[in-house]
Formats: sequence, structure tokens, C-alpha cells
Amino acid sequence: MKLWDKGFEPNKLVEQFTVGQDRALDLALAPYDVEGSMAHIRMLKTIGLLTEDELCILLDGLKQIQKEIADGRFEIEEGIEDVHSEVEKLLTERLGSVGKKIHAGRSRNDQVLVDLKLFYRQRLKDMAEGIKNVFDTLLSLSEQHKDVLMPGYTHMQVAMPSSFGLWFGAYAETLVDDLRIVAAAYETANQNPLGSAAGYGSSFPLNRKMTTLWLQFHTLHYNVCAAQMGRGKTERALAYALNAVASTIGKLAMDVCLFMSQNFGFVSLPDEFTTGSSIMPHKKNPDVFEVMRSKCNRLQSLVSEVSLMTTNLPMGYQRDLQLLKDATFPALEEMDEVLRMLHFILPHLRVNRHILDDKRYDYLFTVEDVNRRVLSGEPFREAYRAVGMQVQRGEYQPNKSVCHTHEGSIGNLCNEQIRLKMENVFQRFA
Ligand code: ARG
Repeated sequence: MKLWDKGFEPNKLVEQFTVGQDRALDLALAPYDVEGSMAHIRMLKTIGLLTEDELCILLDGLKQIQKEIADGRFEIEEGIEDVHSEVEKLLTERLGSVGKKIHAGRSRNDQVLVDLKLFYRQRLKDMAEGIKNVFDTLLSLSEQHKDVLMPGYTHMQVAMPSSFGLWFGAYAETLVDDLRIVAAAYETANQNPLGSAAGYGSSFPLNRKMTTLWLQFHTLHYNVCAAQMGRGKTERALAYALNAVASTIGKLAMDVCLFMSQNFGFVSLPDEFTTGSSIMPHKKNPDVFEVMRSKCNRLQSLVSEVSLMTTNLPMGYQRDLQLLKDATFPALEEMDEVLRMLHFILPHLRVNRHILDDKRYDYLFTVEDVNRRVLSGEPFREAYRAVGMQVQRGEYQPNKSVCHTHEGSIGNLCNEQIRLKMENVFQRFA
């Protein structure tokens, strides 16, 4: 039975094709669908479309469904299209004709918008917490290993001294910038579309400010058509956010894979965090970071997927939009998994404290030597040439003392300032 039943049976194949994954995916929206309905009917009562008694009966019915969802007893039955239909069907079955009053002044189009906004808002907030956890770990590793030097590379060639303090701290501070993009997606999601109905509003005097307050949205999506266009736009913002975070974590995962190679030997993992080979008895592979890299690479494709799915759609609701859930829901799960794993494994990463004892890194110190000469009065270009000629003749002997004092350098990481930045951005999720 469909909400839109008009006395004919829809073709089964067409039904399966159009319903797609909704019966499974919409389960994640169920608590939000009920929350949205509660706000909607409380508002309907204030404009005279429900009596006090009817409201109480409907609220009790919704509370019962809420409990079933929380207990894992809620499902979307065969033949029911989506979560919105299931909730209305249950209310009507259980409460009789009063259940049929709930849908006045709204459409599944704005219902799914509300559900998604509430769902994405929550998931983006969870994601921000996951990012913050990883950030905290990175920053404390940066402090812990701030005196351990490592090579810095440009063009993948040995360049200048770096440190584990810089390396860990760099990813921490970059996550702050990623979090700004997550916050932008969060703010995009935090606007109330309810009342847009099918996408063009309603002739009932709906009180949209009231539902905004009850659903704790920061503001309304005022223009009803803009609210409808929010579907696709919110997903785009979310995809950019996932893209930003994934690009940072993917790069970190790549660094770890590279640095764990025997040719580098900068970091290692305890045996139990590595995986073996079926043929090579000596292997201890960094599969965790390889899988993480791949997941992060795949996550970055969400931007293209969402863009292509929504590009050139005309204004107003199109069923195409339904399929955005197929893309965004698993992506959110995947990002959650990646953040949890990274947070779990980072503290187990072992750092090699003696990397620079190896002669192959001697040239890291040429700029330090040039700078020392400049500090004792030699013009930079002459000092550069003198050290360059030493290298050229194979006579260069490094002086391995490193003295970097400016903000953000090896000797002055400014991790406290970075922490403050993070706290400022994190507050946008309050
Ligand atoms: N399952 C649908 C979706 O996600 C719900 C909205 C259906 N609206 C409609 N006009 N068929 O888009």
C-alpha cells in the first residue's frame, strides 16, 4: 500500500527499481523522521489543524515508534516505500483516522530534507569529534618527539632537517583547516527546510519559526525553493568536507607507508599491527595504512559523484536526489571508521631516533652551514657558493647542530597556538 494509492497496483519491477536501497538506508533516518513529525504536529496544533487531544494521541504514537527505533525493533516493511511512509502507516494502523491528519501541510520532499539535515548535522558533529581526537593525538606526539630530527624532502630529494615534532604537528594544524570545511558543511545542514512542502510552500499558515526552534536549527532555509535546492547542495558541502579530511589523512597514510619501507626506516609498528605475506616469510606490511590510503582516495571521489548526480537537474524535487543517500551514507561510515582507526593506531607508531646518524642524510645540513657563515658576516650568495663547492668536490663535512627559533619551526613549534586555533573552529559545532 502506497501513501499515494489511487486504486491501482504499481508494477513490481518498477517499484523495486525506484525504491532501490531506501528500505535499508532510511533506517538511519528513522529517529529524525519521528523528531521532525513531532515538531510538525505540535506546530499544526498551534494553527488549528489538530486539537489538543489529537496532538496528544499522535505524540504518544510517535513516542512509541521512537522507542521501537531505539530498541532496534523498527523496520520498513516489504511493499512500503520509505521511512516516511512506514511511520505514517504505523500511526494510521494503530491510531485510526487521526493518523491520517499528520501529513497536512507537508510533503515527503520536505520530510526527507528535514531528516537528512538533522542526520547530516549529527554525523558532521560526530566527525568533528573524531577529527578532534586525531588532532589531540597528533599534537601530543608532536610534543613528545619534538627533539627527534628526520630528513625533510623536496622533489623527494634530501633537502633540509625536519623533525617528528614538525611532521606530526603539520598534520594536526592541517586538520584545523579541514575542520573549517566540515564546519561550513555543518552550518549548511543546520537550516530548517520544514514547511517547504513539495518544494513550493503551502496555503496553510505554517509557523516555520516554531519548528525551527523545536528542531534546534540555527536558522530557516527561508525561500521554499532554496530549501528544496538544499538537497544536493548540502550533500555537496558534505562531500567537500569529507574530501578535505580524506586528503589530509590519505597523505599521512602515504607518508607512513613510505617511512616504514626499509629504504627509509623512519617509523615502525609493533608486529601485531602489521600483516604478513603468503610467500615471503620476512614480511611485516603496513596494510592498515594502505587500506586507510585507499579508503581516503575513494572518499575523495564523493565530490565527483555528488556533482555528477546533481549537475543540470532542474529546480524542484527530482527522484534522482534519492540516490544521493546511496553515496553519502556509506561515505560517512567509512570516514568514521578511518578516523577511529587512525586515532587507535597513531600512539603505537614507533619513531626512529637515530635516522640522521646515516651519512646519506649529511647534505641536509648544507643550508645550516651557509646560514652560519652568513651570521658571521659573509654575504649569502658567497656562502652558498663556498658550501656548494665543498659538496661538489666531495669535501663537505656537516655540522649537525640545528638552531631554528622562528614561529612554527623545529625549535619553536607553536603547538599551543595551534591548539587554540583548533578550539576556535571546534566551537562552531557547539
Ligand atoms: N525516498 C524519497 C527520496 O529519498 C523520499 C521522497 C519521495 N518523494 C517523491 N515525490 N517521490 O527522495
